[in-house]
Amino acid sequence: MSQPLTFQLTLYPHPVLRKVAEPVRAFDAQLASTVKSMLELMYESRGVGLAAPQVGLKQRVLVLNDSGERANSDREIVLVNPTIVERFGQPTVYEEGCLSFPGIYAEVTRPDRVKVRACDLNGVESEREYEGFVARIVQHEYDHLEGVLLVDRMSAADRLRHKVALEELKHRYRREQSSGAR
Ligand code: CO
Repeated sequence: MSQPLTFQLTLYPHPVLRKVAEPVRAFDAQLASTVKSMLELMYESRGVGLAAPQVGLKQRVLVLNDSGERANSDREIVLVNPTIVERFGQPTVYEEGCLSFPGIYAEVTRPDRVKVRACDLNGVESEREYEGFVARIVQHEYDHLEGVLLVDRMSAADRLRHKVALEELKHRYRREQSSGAR
């Protein structure tokens, strides 16, 4: 059941999206609550992944569920302080979207397998391999922790194709800033 959302999506070009996120030090109830609220917002927004900077937090936390379905909670993956140890496999092309770039989709090439070292909510570290769509989502969300965005990964042709939409997001951000919202 839906509860009131704790977080709002941070949209491009909000500066927090450009910061390198900082490691989590406290594996406490607040972290668990942050992750729960991030998953809630992800499902409500019809996304398959979300990184903490997208809710305005400069923390190395990402969540995903490749099914995008709240009912398949067994497919939720929560990575705290992740490091991509290795990227390998086949380079694959896929049209990615991003909740911080509503309505914008662009082809991005990424390897289809990754090895990731990360902590869980209790601070227990482990190393896992992911492949296919999950590996893609992990890489997209990991980019957010490094301040790297969809607009950086798309081709020059796509950046041109999306010029108007990107300008519109910038105008919207400036309007919100000048009206003192948020
Ligand atoms: Co994104």
